Amino acid sequence: MRWLGGLSDHVRRVFVQDSAEEKEHEHPEQYHKPTPKPKNQLTPEAYAALPVVDCKGVTKIFRDPRTGQDMTALQDINFTIEDAPKVGELITMLGPSGCGKSTLLNIIAGLEPHFPPTRGEMIVKGEPVTGPGPDRGMVFQSYSSFPCYTILENVAFGLKLQGVPEKEREDIAAAWIKKVKLGGFEKAYPKELSGGMRQRVALARTLAVKPRIILMDEPFGALDRITRWEMQDLLIELWSEMEATVFLVTHDIPEAVFLGDRVFIFSPRPGRLVEIVKLPRPTEKAAQMQRTAKFADIVNEISRKVEAVDSCGIGSSAGTVRTNSHTDGSHA
Ligand SMILES: Nc1ncnc2c1ncn2[C@@H]1O[C@H](COP(=O)(O)OP(=O)(O)OP(=O)(O)O)[C@@H](O)[C@H]1O
Ligand SMILES: [Mg+2]
Repeated sequence: MRWLGGLSDHVRRVFVQDSAEEKEHEHPEQYHKPTPKPKNQLTPEAYAALPVVDCKGVTKIFRDPRTGQDMTALQDINFTIEDAPKVGELITMLGPSGCGKSTLLNIIAGLEPHFPPTRGEMIVKGEPVTGPGPDRGMVFQSYSSFPCYTILENVAFGLKLQGVPEKEREDIAAAWIKKVKLGGFEKAYPKELSGGMRQRVALARTLAVKPRIILMDEPFGALDRITRWEMQDLLIELWSEMEATVFLVTHDIPEAVFLGDRVFIFSPRPGRLVEIVKLPRPTEKAAQMQRTAKFADIVNEISRKVEAVDSCGIGSSAGTVRTNSHTDGSHA
């Protein structure tokens, strides 16, 4: 299943929103329509029961081209995300720099050179990942838009690649621009927008194609605290109508706690998934909730877990993942 088969690696990366500089001279309208997905032979019930993501023993070893030495970025990662129709799930990922968080997102996205894993398999709705696909959308930390395209054209870009007719894709894009609260900026260019606004464009562009899985790599990392809170609220608001599974990497523990249904905690390199903490959904806006003493207690609890993993390397025996619920199950 090569959804973007025939396109250069570069264009594949552009679709999943790589850095703006790289995209300056792209002309995506030249590229082919996506090939249809192979028909799944399962009954609708059996298909619905398949996990959204089944990560089986994923290990990634990179070879340093200068020294020729192997370096294990991820080691034996195992987890299953069950399908939760009309609910979705938001997984936040915490771990020290270099523990392989981005590598794991890229493996789910099917993006080289992280994909394919050296060992193990990434299975999405019963099918092994073989490359990028419209069922998985990615939002990066860097503001990623085509600088020569208007906001409307940027948001409509994925729909255009899918072959959606012009009027229809413009209507869908305009609706998403309003949803991310950028109504009135349809004809503006990315350089005319602030960083927070450009991340809204990236969000709208990814969500407009309704991916089943949304992969977010430190999406709000470059934003100030207030803008970050606004984006967190926006993500919760939009996500509730998306029914998607979201993986969001962050270094911000309050963000991981606020957004996450489950927090995945990784060890230092070689990254292992050592602990999964279940958390309740937010009941208030980010700015209110993250100022409460109760929220601070949960953040402290997760911080202690992260620090424990950081200081002793792997926090549990190889291949074992501790799964916990937050102690009293409430945020507020
Ligand atoms: N294309 C690559 N070639 C070789 N090594 C790589 C490549 N991409 C990542 N690595 C290495 O794999 C390890 C994991 O990198 P990765 O970017 O996944 O970490 P991360 O957890 O996302 O870190 P950060 O929090 O700093 O973004 C690092 O040691 C990195 O140097
Ligand atoms: Mg990273």
